Amino acid sequence: MAFRPYDTRDERLLIFFEVILLKDMLNQIEQQAIEALESAKSEQEIDGLRVKYLGKKGELTGILKQMGGLPAEERPLIGQLANIVREKIGAKISERFAEMKSESVKARLSLEAIDVTMPGKREAMGKRHPISLVLDDITEIFLGMGFKVAEGPEVELGYYNFDVLNIPKDHPARDTQDTFYINDEVILRPQTSPVQVRVMNRQKPPIRIIAPGRVYRSDAVDATHSPLFHQVEGLVIDKAITMADLKGTLELFAKMLYGNDMVVRFRPHYFPFTEPSAEMDAMCFVCQGEGCRLCKGEGWIEILGCGMVHPKVLKNCGIDPCEYAGFAFGMGLERVVMRRYAIDDLRLFFDNDERFLNQF
Ligand code: DAH
Repeated sequence: MAFRPYDTRDERLLIFFEVILLKDMLNQIEQQAIEALESAKSEQEIDGLRVKYLGKKGELTGILKQMGGLPAEERPLIGQLANIVREKIGAKISERFAEMKSESVKARLSLEAIDVTMPGKREAMGKRHPISLVLDDITEIFLGMGFKVAEGPEVELGYYNFDVLNIPKDHPARDTQDTFYINDEVILRPQTSPVQVRVMNRQKPPIRIIAPGRVYRSDAVDATHSPLFHQVEGLVIDKAITMADLKGTLELFAKMLYGNDMVVRFRPHYFPFTEPSAEMDAMCFVCQGEGCRLCKGEGWIEILGCGMVHPKVLKNCGIDPCEYAGFAFGMGLERVVMRRYAIDDLRLFFDNDERFLNQF
């Protein structure tokens, strides 16, 4: 048996060891708590540590409970020590909270900082549709010749579109194969010509208008047909208007639209609302009248229909054909645009494909 110079069961020694152990534990708690607080990364984490070390069921409270086993004269020492540790940990907690706050403020400030030297974000701007571009050019030309722009409804009365325009009851244009009917009297206008009637009904001559707009026909879609397309109508009514005015105006228009060397011709035609009637062709700009694929061997390309306003139409609109005369014309806008930009398929206008639209 080893020689022991003391009795390990000695009450005072046990107390001594107990005190040393508690002191040691307090130091350990302090060290651990401070280290943990130093490396804590969020306010929640710090709060968790506060509960763990200082809370009611925390480690310091645990020590104070253990202290109950000590004799009364030893307790104040441990109690004091425990308070010091509590204060140190508490101070560290406040310090770390404050640091966190200023860090999060800093982080927010740097996140929300505006760099005024940064290049701006460019808004993707839309572009004008080629049909609108060409319509603008056409409108500009006619405004320059003293015309005004008129508008009429796309949902139109058959009366304005057919009856007043001298289109007889059995005319094929009245057929449902050509015209969309909403009911017996109401149609989707298949041409802009009824705008002529609406203008003449409201305005005394002299009249000089163009009326651009959408028109509808019961056509199947292909490279040159669409159930919706655009026309530009024109109407001039005044005293002593002759075919020479019609030719001069439309020839000048063609030269302004296509260039000064544009050659046009007028070919007799039939329209119920004009007499005489004609179609204006432009000499094919690819083959100069020789005949090629574009003009289908004709040498000429049809641009518009026109004529001297029929006396019956004038009368129907309350204008005296003995006093006034006039000319009218109507052109398909898509065709003009296709010719202008060498576009070979009308469907491209309505597909909304940006690769197509961005080229204009
Ligand atoms: N409305 C005719 C069409 O759609 C075009 C037209 C021809 C209009 C002669 C006119 C005109 O004003 O006088 O085919």
